[in-house]
Amino acid sequence: MTDTDLNAQLAASQAEVDNLRAELEETNRGVVALYAELDEQAIQLKKATELKSRFLAYMSHEFRTPVSSIRSIARLLIDQVDGPLTEEQAKQVRFIQTAAIDFSEMVDDLLDLAKIEAGRVEISPAWFEMVDLFSALRGMFRPMLDNHAVTLTFEEPHGLPRLYTDDRKLSQILRNFISNALKFTSAGEVRVSARPFGDGSVRFSVTDTGIGIAQEHLVAVFDDFSQVDSPIQKRLRGTGLGLALCRQLASLLGGTVGVESELGKGSTFFVTLPQQLAVAERQE
Ligand SMILES: Nc1ncnc2c1ncn2[C@@H]1O[C@H](COP(=O)(O)OP(=O)(O)OP(=O)(O)O)[C@@H](O)[C@H]1O
Ligand SMILES: [Mg+2]
Repeated sequence: MTDTDLNAQLAASQAEVDNLRAELEETNRGVVALYAELDEQAIQLKKATELKSRFLAYMSHEFRTPVSSIRSIARLLIDQVDGPLTEEQAKQVRFIQTAAIDFSEMVDDLLDLAKIEAGRVEISPAWFEMVDLFSALRGMFRPMLDNHAVTLTFEEPHGLPRLYTDDRKLSQILRNFISNALKFTSAGEVRVSARPFGDGSVRFSVTDTGIGIAQEHLVAVFDDFSQVDSPIQKRLRGTGLGLALCRQLASLLGGTVGVESELGKGSTFFVTLPQQLAVAERQE
């Protein structure tokens, strides 16, 4: 190969390298621009989420006063403080009362969800015994057990270590699970249990012998406003926020929620939490 050939080849390779470098630089600029756009979008998304949470928080907060006055006026009417009601009037006032109670529960759930999303929920972990939590829950549900065909059983939490977590939030999750279980079970049993799970976690389960949930609906039940769309569930409507709240609360406590169910046989909802809430998991 002559010197001229070699030089020509070198020049050609150099040109190729230059071309490649130019292409690479262009791609780099493109990637940088894309990143900037993504960052911008992430900021926008964060702003939108914050706005949504703030709106929800203000709205649900402002709804509380009028709803509670509707509730107290309905109460006065039902108690016939200002004179007797006819049978029909009493029935209508009870409708108002039920609707107002449902509404105020929904407002409370919305406010809780908004607070969690805005990162404004304080977690106060403390050491406590499961036996105490179970007996508090038992006391809370006793007055509500009006269907004698369903029993509510709390298994003795044998061999469970003491827990270090936010017991009020755990209780809120279990209350939601239990009230759903009672709502969707017309006969049989609702059973609440707690067991050590894996390494250093505890799993709380609420098992019912109720209507169950079809496999295709299982994935969505923990989403906001999600309700299973089947004729049998229609008359038992709530707002579909209870389980979404449970999922958020569980993740605040460093845990997860889950469900297993068979249509027509019953369901088990569970929450798995670290036995001791790690300090790093306390606030995002
Ligand atoms: N134990 C259960 N058995 C059968 N279906 C259930 C059970 N728990 C929940 N579901 C289904 O999951 C849906 C979502 O439950 P969630 O608690 O979020 O809402 P809700 O009970 O309808 O309303 P809310 O709790 O907000 O008053 C319910 O509407 C119901 O369709
Ligand atoms: Mg519910």
